[in-house]
Amino acid sequence: MSTKPRQILVTSALPYANGPIHLGHMLEYIQTDIWVRFQRLRGNDCIFVCADDAHGTPVMLKARELGITPEELVARTGENHRRDFNDFHISVDNYYTTHSPENRELATLIYKRLKAAGYIAVRSIRQFYDEQAKMFLPDRFIKGTCPRCGTPDQYGDACENCGSTYSPADLVNPVSVISGTRPVEKESEHYFFKLGDFTDFLKGWMTTSNLHPAVRAKLDEWFQMGLQDWDISRDAPYFGFEIPDAPGKYFYVWLDAPIGYMASFKNLCTKRKHLKFDDYWGKDSQRELYHFIGKDITYFHTLFWPAMLSGADFRTPTAVYAHGFLTVNGQKMSKSRGTFIQARAYLDHLNPEYLRYYFAAKLGAGVDDIDLNLDDFTQRVNSDLVGKLVNIASRCAGFLTKNFQGRLFSTQEEWKTISGTSIDADLGIEMVLLGSDDTIAEYYEKREYAAAIREIMRLTDLVNQFIDKYKPWELAKQKENKEILHRICSAAINAFRILTIYLAPVLPSFAVEAEKFLNTEGKLTWNHLAEYPTNPIHEYKPLMTRVDPAKTKAMVEASKENLEISSPKVAANMEPIFPEVSYDDFAKLDLRIARIVKAEHIKGAEKLLRLTLDLGGEMRNVFAGIKSAYAPEQLQGKLTVMVANLAPRRMKFGVSEGMVLAAGPGGKDIWLLEPHPGAQPGMRVK
Ligand code: MSP
Ligand code: ZN
Repeated sequence: MSTKPRQILVTSALPYANGPIHLGHMLEYIQTDIWVRFQRLRGNDCIFVCADDAHGTPVMLKARELGITPEELVARTGENHRRDFNDFHISVDNYYTTHSPENRELATLIYKRLKAAGYIAVRSIRQFYDEQAKMFLPDRFIKGTCPRCGTPDQYGDACENCGSTYSPADLVNPVSVISGTRPVEKESEHYFFKLGDFTDFLKGWMTTSNLHPAVRAKLDEWFQMGLQDWDISRDAPYFGFEIPDAPGKYFYVWLDAPIGYMASFKNLCTKRKHLKFDDYWGKDSQRELYHFIGKDITYFHTLFWPAMLSGADFRTPTAVYAHGFLTVNGQKMSKSRGTFIQARAYLDHLNPEYLRYYFAAKLGAGVDDIDLNLDDFTQRVNSDLVGKLVNIASRCAGFLTKNFQGRLFSTQEEWKTISGTSIDADLGIEMVLLGSDDTIAEYYEKREYAAAIREIMRLTDLVNQFIDKYKPWELAKQKENKEILHRICSAAINAFRILTIYLAPVLPSFAVEAEKFLNTEGKLTWNHLAEYPTNPIHEYKPLMTRVDPAKTKAMVEASKENLEISSPKVAANMEPIFPEVSYDDFAKLDLRIARIVKAEHIKGAEKLLRLTLDLGGEMRNVFAGIKSAYAPEQLQGKLTVMVANLAPRRMKFGVSEGMVLAAGPGGKDIWLLEPHPGAQPGMRVK
C-alpha cells in the first residue's frame, strides 16, 4: 500500500437527547465504528464525529416534566450517551451537541445563504393548538380515533392498527397529549425550504453518490411523487435556535440536526489546530464525507441535506449509507418482553465485543433488518470466538512458552525435512491466510461485514484443522519431535496474529489484549500483516470467555418493564391489610441506585419534595414525602435507592415515575436509604 492515505470524515446519526441509547442505536454506532477502525488500520486518515441531537419539542417537554432546564437535561443525557459509546469502544474523535455556539452560527449562516438565494418561502398554515398549554402541537402530541378504521388512541400522523397515514385534522375526537384538552385549529406563519428547486441537482447527485440500489429505488419513488416544500420553522415555545429576523420562530430540529455534523467537526478543529474546516466542508473539497444512518431517516439525508448544502455553497456527501432496523428475537423491541434493551443494561451483564461481533456477522451493505436472536447470539459467539479463534492460541501458546522461551521458530533457521510427510505444504497455512487480505479488505470497505466474517471464520477453521492434524499435545510427548512441535505451534500463533488483525476493526479491545500476549504492540495493523513476529510471546491467559446464558437472561429480566403492579386496595379509615407476598412478587421490584440531581420544594405541598433522579441514562421525576426530614440542599448530588419499575402515578403536582426508599416513624425521623458512595446510578440493587 504505497498509495496516499485517504482523508475521510465519517458521521453516525445524532441520537436524540431525550432518551437513553438502546441496542437499536448500537447497531448503527457499531457499524460505523467498524468501518472507521478498518480505515485507520489501513493507514487512512479517518475522522469520526457525532453529537447529541438536542433540540425539539420532546426534549423541551421532558425537561419540563423533570423540572429542569432543557440545557441541564441535554448535559445529563450527553454524559450518559458518551459513557455508553465509550464502553462499547466507539472511537469517535468528537462527541458534541447540536445546542452549541458552532451549530447556531452554521445554522444561521446556511439559512441566510438559502434565503439570499431565494430558496426560502413564507406562508401561513393551519395547525392544532393547545390553548391550555399555549403551544402548537406536533403530530405525535395529538391522539384520537383513526378516521379509517375507528381504532381509538392513535397518533396524529398514522394509525398503528390499520397502518394508514393522515393529518391530525382528520382524527375523530382529537385530544392534546399534553393537557388532555381538545385542541383548536389556529393559523400561523411558517418558513419553508423550496426543495423542489433542487430536483435536477438531486437527480445528478444521486448518480454520483454511490448509494445502495435499495436507497436509490426509494429516491426514485420520491422523485416520481414530486418534491414538496419543507416546513423548517416552529413557533415558540420551542427548544432550538431562533430564526434570524423572525422573532418567536425557531428552526425545526431537523434543520439544525445534520448541520450538527459540521458543528461537531468545527469544534474538533478548535482542539486539533492542524484541521481546517474548509478542507472538509468547502465547496471544492476533495476529501471524502460519509454519513451512516438508519433507513428511517433517508429522506432527510438524501434529499434535504444535500440540497441544503448545495444551496448554501458547501460540499455534498460522498455517500450516504443506510442500514436496516434491529429486531430482537424476531420481533420489534418491546418493553414488556424485555427486549427493549438499553446499552447500559447490556453492559451491566455482557462483554460489548460479543455484540460487536454478532452485529458484524449479520451486517451487509443493504437496508435489510437485522435480528438479534439471543440464543443464536450465545451460540455464535461461543462457537466462533471462544471455540475457534481463541482456541488456536490457547492450544498452542503453552508449548512455545514452556519449551522455547516463547520464541517463534525463526524462518531463517534451516528446516530439516521429515520424509514421508506433507508438512511443508501444510506449513503454507500462513500464506493461505495472507492470500485473503484483499478479499477481506474489500468486504469491509463495502460494508459487507457478514461476508468478511464468513471468510475470516473459514480461515480460522483451516487453522484449527491444521492443529488437529499435527496434534501438538502428541508431538510434545517425544523429544525427537521438538522441531516439528516448534514449527507447528509457531505457524498457528502467527496465524492467530493474522486473524486478530483481520478482526481488529470488530474486536478492538480483544486485539489490544492479543497484542500484549503476542508482544507485538503497535503492529496489529494491515501493514504489518506479513511481518513475521520476532519477539517472544508472553504466557497465555484467556483472551475471551464464553457467553453465560444466565447473564443474557438476567439482562432481559432487567429490561422488562412491569406495568401491572398496583398498590393494595386500602379500605377507608382502616389500617391497611397487607396480604402475604410471595418471593416472586418481591423479585418483581426493580431496585436501582439513583442520583438525586435536583431536589425542590413544591408550591402548596406540605409533605412532598420533588426529586429529579438520574438512573444512569434515564431521568425520572419522583415525588417523595420526606419534606419533614430533609431540606432540598441536603439531598442534591446524593445517591439513593429507588423502585424503578413502579407504574407512573398521576399526583396532584404531576406524574411520579417511581419511588425512593426511606424508613422511620415520621416527622424528622425519616431516613433515606444511602448506598455505598462508590455505587453508580442505574446499578441494580441485589
Ligand atoms: N436525531 C435523529 C437523527 C438526526 S441525524 C442528523 C434520530 N435520532 S434517533 O435517536 O431516533 O436515532 C438515531 C439513529 O439510530 C438513527 O440513524 C436511527 O435510524 C437509528 N436507530 C434507532 N433505532 C433503531 C433500531 N431499532 N434499529 C436500527 N437503528 C435504529 O433519528
Ligand atoms: Zn386505523
